[in-house]
Amino acid sequence: MPDTATPAGAGASQEAEIISALGMRSVVLVGMMGAGKSTIGRRLSARLHLPFLDADTEIEAAAGMSIPDIFETHGEPHFRDGEARVIARLLDGGPAVIATGGGAFMREETRNRIRDKAVSLWLKADAEIIMKRVKRRADRPLLQTADPAATVGRLIEEREPVYQRADLTIWSRDVPHERIVDECLDALHAWLCGDGSRQTPNALSATP
Ligand code: S3P
Repeated sequence: MPDTATPAGAGASQEAEIISALGMRSVVLVGMMGAGKSTIGRRLSARLHLPFLDADTEIEAAAGMSIPDIFETHGEPHFRDGEARVIARLLDGGPAVIATGGGAFMREETRNRIRDKAVSLWLKADAEIIMKRVKRRADRPLLQTADPAATVGRLIEEREPVYQRADLTIWSRDVPHERIVDECLDALHAWLCGDGSRQTPNALSATP
């Protein structure tokens, strides 16, 4: 398929170089709910010809119940333990593109595993975009509060210093998905293949 974002063939070779440099490592997307980890992750996996794994979906399959039901029946600590186990298993099966739930990277044990077995990419989104996107679905237990916007603000404040420890950061904003995917590929290539002149690792590739 022709690559419209790059000169003929360049995209394909960039992707091949990323796959080769990854070896058995995965690409792990971290960031807030609504940042687009699943949407971008699915497209990124297609471009890299790697399996896409959604940690939330895998947790639900392992538990045999939905995330809201896990929270309600067993509580958040139980969910977090299951989340850590599932992500550890997914990382052992690399390489893949793995989308993690918004709270997963907050656990040190999970961050250490991701550091050892993957390249981490923070999809950074501002509160306004997150609110716009999370409003479409009512299945996030943490946002069942009197003031979801205030909750999102608090979570961003708590979590951003930790998300910032990811290897790479890309602004997730309202532009065509393939543009964000192209930026992820450029950042991965720069990080893994050493063409640092094109992007400094963990520097934002674009401002919102
Ligand atoms: C959570 C995010 C959700 C899901 C759970 C908790 C969080 O995943 O794991 O509801 O703590 O931010 P998404 O980030 O995919 O919405």
